[in-house]
Amino acid sequence: MSAKFEKLMNGADGALALLQVLAENSFDSVLITDASAEGKIIYANKSFKKLTGHDPTEIIGMTPRILQGPGTDSTMIARLSDALKSGGKFEGKAINYKKDDTPFIMYWRVLPIKVGKTITAWVAIQREGSVI
Ligand SMILES: Cc1cc2nc3c(=O)[nH]c(=O)nc-3n(C[C@H](O)[C@H](O)[C@H](O)COP(=O)(O)O)c2cc1C
Repeated sequence: MSAKFEKLMNGADGALALLQVLAENSFDSVLITDASAEGKIIYANKSFKKLTGHDPTEIIGMTPRILQGPGTDSTMIARLSDALKSGGKFEGKAINYKKDDTPFIMYWRVLPIKVGKTITAWVAIQREGSVI
C-alpha cells in the first residue's frame, strides 16, 4: 500500500468514494448484509442483478436465502452458518436459483467487515461457476 493510498483510505470521504466506485463497477456481484442474526441485505450491485435477475431495490431487507432452493447443498450452508457464528470467513460453491428459478452454481466468499473488534456488516463477492 502506498502512502498516497493510505492517506486516501484514512479520510472517510475518500475511502467511501473509492469503495463506491469499486462496488458499483465490479464485474463480480457484491452483496452486503447487516450484522444481525438474520443477515438482512443492505446493498447489492448491478452485477448482482445481472447474475441473479433480482433488482437490488427489491431485495433490500430480505436475506440471501432467497437464492437457495431444493438443490442447494445443506452441508455447505451449515459450513457458512458456522463461519458467520464464529466471525470467520467463508468460501464455497452451491447451487443457487435466479429470480426466474433457473439453477446455477454460485461461487462466493463471505467476509466480516470489522470496526475495531465489532462486526458491522458482512460482504459477499460472488460469481457464477465452480472456479475463480
Ligand atoms: C453477505 C452474505 C452473503 C450470502 N450470500 C449467499 C449466497 O449467495 N447464496 C446462498 O445460498 N447463501 C448466501 N448467504 C447465506 C444465507 O444468507 C444464510 O446465512 C445461510 O443460509 C445460513 O443461515 P441458515 O442456516 O439460517 O439458512 C449469504 C450470507 C451472507 C451473510
